[in-house]
Amino acid sequence: MAAIRSLRNRAIFGNLLQKNVCPALSVRQKSAWADVQMGPPDAILGVTEAFKKDTNPKKINLGVGAYRGDDGKPFILECVKKAETQMLNEGLDHEYAPIIGTPSFTNASAKLAFGADSAVLKDGLNATAQGVSGTGSLRIGAAFLAKFYKSKEIYFPTPTWGNHGPIFKDSGMTPKAYRYYDPNTCGFDFSGAMEDIGKIPEGSAILLHACAHNPTGVDPKPEQWKAMSELIKKRNLYPYFDMAYQGFASGSIDQDAFALRQFIEDGHQLCLAQSFAKNMGLYGERAGAFTVVCSDKDEQARVLSQIKIIIRPMYSNPPIHGAHIVSKVLNTPDLYSLWLEEVKAMADRIISMRTRLQDGLKREGSSRNWQHITEQIGMFCFTGLKPDQVERLTKEFSVYLTKDGRISVAGLSSSNVDYLASAMHAVTK
Ligand SMILES: Cc1ncc(COP(=O)(O)O)c(C=O)c1O
Repeated sequence: MAAIRSLRNRAIFGNLLQKNVCPALSVRQKSAWADVQMGPPDAILGVTEAFKKDTNPKKINLGVGAYRGDDGKPFILECVKKAETQMLNEGLDHEYAPIIGTPSFTNASAKLAFGADSAVLKDGLNATAQGVSGTGSLRIGAAFLAKFYKSKEIYFPTPTWGNHGPIFKDSGMTPKAYRYYDPNTCGFDFSGAMEDIGKIPEGSAILLHACAHNPTGVDPKPEQWKAMSELIKKRNLYPYFDMAYQGFASGSIDQDAFALRQFIEDGHQLCLAQSFAKNMGLYGERAGAFTVVCSDKDEQARVLSQIKIIIRPMYSNPPIHGAHIVSKVLNTPDLYSLWLEEVKAMADRIISMRTRLQDGLKREGSSRNWQHITEQIGMFCFTGLKPDQVERLTKEFSVYLTKDGRISVAGLSSSNVDYLASAMHAVTK
């Protein structure tokens, strides 16, 4: 009898559930996330998604900011492979790092940025912490400024890397802008930048791309950096350097650190976010560093203690594998020399692709001025293509890039650069 009743109940409830009128479900509360709106897709990752779906064998993805070898494949540096082999042979370590990262990593990062002979390091004025690559390092600094800096306004070059705004806004800073790129020349708007910087309220913070400006590939010349440094000092602005491409722009670690070191020489107090994603090919390993240059040892200790307090509730302590690789490469003389050669080789390949693209456009018969392709520097080139031309490139030629006309030159190779030249000519003639 009980068995028959149970079967009957199961049939009734099964029916109600199927019709979605189960009393238990009908009284369910509205979901806590019912009002969450769908967010827009990430502009750059969206380009890659569309690229993946394209079946054209000639398709090129120039949206993503990662270096590729001439075979178009991801590139693992030889010095990194050697460092990892050595690490394996020495025995694995999966222990927690200190909150601010491994000292051998943070010391080597600061030395790379400021130079081995820098007074900043000799006097112990750098408060340096490992961050989760460049983004995480920028974020620590943004949170530090929001908490302790007198002004909450930070001035960005126009345009700037798309993530700068959200990083600083989410940390409690207010992004503002100064002129930087001149669309008429596809070059640096020096007079516009100087005019705008001259009007920034005293005491504000100013963000500077140390080298290989993303997205434009346009960097100030050394004399222009000197003039900017002088003006920034006069206006009492606080420089925040973002150095995501040291060595990757010119092929020389020291040349690419020129602006940062010039500002130090000029006596600025400043802070710096570094990334090893591009120059060591450690994208997914998330190795980076954040440094505040302090005025004395006591201040350095106080600042570092507060950086630890910012990091601890965010992620407790940083990932170790990438930092150990960087530390091994930078602190082992033969691996360090090999790395310098490999960074130069990556930069040289990008520079040669710029020349080949420019030559290809000339060969196609383009009468436009493409001088900026070789004048710009680093991974990205701001082609000057208009949104409708970008759309045609994608629709008709399966060339994928961001709407602003930026291409990642690192995605070009000897097998696709001529195709890109003819496609660019076709949409611009
Ligand atoms: C200007 C700039 N800053 C910072 C980053 C941070 O990169 P990551 O977090 O991968 O180190 C990037 C990467 O594209 C960049 O272009």
